[in-house]
Amino acid sequence: MNRITRGNRLLFGGDYNPEQWSEETWLEDVRLMKQAHVTTATLGVFAWSSLEPREGVFEFGWLDRVIDLLWANGIGVMLSTPTASPPPWFTKAHPEAMPITKAGLKLVHGSRDTYNPAAPAYREAAKRITRALGERYGQHPALQGWHIHNEYGSVSYGPFVDDAFRHWLQGRYGDLASLNRAWSSAFWSQGYGEWDEILAPQQTQYLSNPTHELDFKRFSAELLLECYRDQLTILRQLSPDLPLTTNFILSSWLNFDHWDFADASDFVSIDFYLDGDGVEGAAHAAFGADQARSFARGKPWLLMEQAANTTVRPGRIVAKPAGEILRTSAQYIANGSQGALFFQWRAGLGGSESFHSTMVPHVGEDSRTFREVTELGAFIERMAEVAEQPSGQVNARKVAIVWDSDSWWAAEGTNLPSNGFNFQSAVRRLHRQLWFKGIGVDFVRPGDDLDQYDLLLIAGQLIASDSDAESLERFVRGGGQAVLWYFSGSFDTDFRVIPNGYSGVFARTLGIRVEELLPLNSGETVLLDDGATGSDWSEVVQLRGAEAIASYSTGFASGQPAITRNSIGAGHAYYVSTNLDSDRLSALLDTVLGAAEIEPDATGAGGGLEIVRRHAGDQTYLFVINHTDTERSTAATGVDILTGIHHDGDLLVPAGVILVIKE
Ligand code: GLA
Repeated sequence: MNRITRGNRLLFGGDYNPEQWSEETWLEDVRLMKQAHVTTATLGVFAWSSLEPREGVFEFGWLDRVIDLLWANGIGVMLSTPTASPPPWFTKAHPEAMPITKAGLKLVHGSRDTYNPAAPAYREAAKRITRALGERYGQHPALQGWHIHNEYGSVSYGPFVDDAFRHWLQGRYGDLASLNRAWSSAFWSQGYGEWDEILAPQQTQYLSNPTHELDFKRFSAELLLECYRDQLTILRQLSPDLPLTTNFILSSWLNFDHWDFADASDFVSIDFYLDGDGVEGAAHAAFGADQARSFARGKPWLLMEQAANTTVRPGRIVAKPAGEILRTSAQYIANGSQGALFFQWRAGLGGSESFHSTMVPHVGEDSRTFREVTELGAFIERMAEVAEQPSGQVNARKVAIVWDSDSWWAAEGTNLPSNGFNFQSAVRRLHRQLWFKGIGVDFVRPGDDLDQYDLLLIAGQLIASDSDAESLERFVRGGGQAVLWYFSGSFDTDFRVIPNGYSGVFARTLGIRVEELLPLNSGETVLLDDGATGSDWSEVVQLRGAEAIASYSTGFASGQPAITRNSIGAGHAYYVSTNLDSDRLSALLDTVLGAAEIEPDATGAGGGLEIVRRHAGDQTYLFVINHTDTERSTAATGVDILTGIHHDGDLLVPAGVILVIKE
């Protein structure tokens, strides 16, 4: 049986903070939850000071009562460990466990996520509250799973971290000579003679050492994974029947490796907040869903948080027009999520996030938001049959985009020849283009098996190993189409330049030698002889077996190849040495999709008409979501489980409408 949905309902609900409300309000909450078809409340996130008001003194009475109340009303619980926000007593008792910033500033409580993940007092306190919760609630029938911590991502510096970092470096390098070599420490007199000379990379006078910085990001990611494992171990003992997860923030934080965290979890959960409106927002949501499903590698996954309406982000306010929460949630479910949850149930009257939108807004149930929440709850209830096990897989993807944390972190380095280099936007741009073409995508980690794919896209994978090169070569020789963008494979795993030509690791397969990097200033462009415009970057590329399919017609590289193709074995390896304008990028993707014989997943898909086939056992469901404001058409055979209408062949999909067709 599917351990999250228990084989009957997709999850619907959100973060619920009863500790912030009177018991009278709890009763009102339960009435509204039932009205909105809520299945699940995530309790306890950030509730540490209410659960353990003094060190070692627990108050579980309120939590007992609220869990029992929810359960008596048919609402299950995702129980969270509150370890993302230690209470004030913790700062007072353990000042040494407070985080220290890169600039050396010691922080204190007053916000959240204020702890040093390497401090023994924090680790012990986190284990203690986890154990206490596991012992008390580990067998409670209301529990649907454990939600550990909240959005791991904290980084600290200072003595505990220095020690742990040195220990990690000893494990990685064995001896100082190897570390000095890897860190190129002869530059600027950084040679280390004793291990205890090494510090975590706090703020420096001028540019810092890029490999030192990258290793610290790798280390910090592993340190957080250790914190996660502390709790996984305890809860697996005390609550062996329940699935464990931690909610990922969509890839925008450093020092956290989604692949590793996903491997350690029983199911993957993701928090998704829109950064765009309308169809652009839908493209962003598809990116989040494809990432979560890919990170999960076949395990179940869940949309753990989203906003019911307006999200206020630094520099950006995104409001949700009518129908959008339904479409975004349907999009996640189509792509395999085991439900759709929100942050949060009820809007706080005080506190830092009191104007973050919620399922029950300040104005109460008589509101557009709550009516739409209720409508969504009914929609999800009707989706029950797709929750059957095994469920959550989608039609097999033929296109893979490489997602690599090392390269993401390395791209932040101050040693690069251009500040315009951004791993995330390079990857996201490719995903967006393919989504608009109606082509499903998986993300893969370097080293993953590529057998299932016909097209491989590598943008901004700065760091690559010899085995990555072998894997690319095998993929192309075996008949795959691969496209690589500039600077990929230019560094070894120590973040040192591979000599004798940039993109060096992949150069043989690409049939090129990159002699010179010619990054462009912001706003500067170069023209290609096929009419395309390039920005951000250009290069002097020499052919070593490949053919030029477009050349530069302006700039320092004028007359030299800009886009190349190498035929090897049964496949092709393309190299793109500039950031192509959208039309040319689209045309290039059409060429390689054509060569790989990949077509849209369904008739009419693309341009904002999203069509995904989700599997539940032997049954398939075709989700058709029209994110645009015009009527669109597709073809399908089966019964729409929302309306009961039978479709056989061509059908029209009105603007904004969702169909779920049981095939
Ligand atoms: C994150 C957190 C929540 C809340 C929301 C606000 O996802 O997990 O606690 O702060 O952001 O968008």
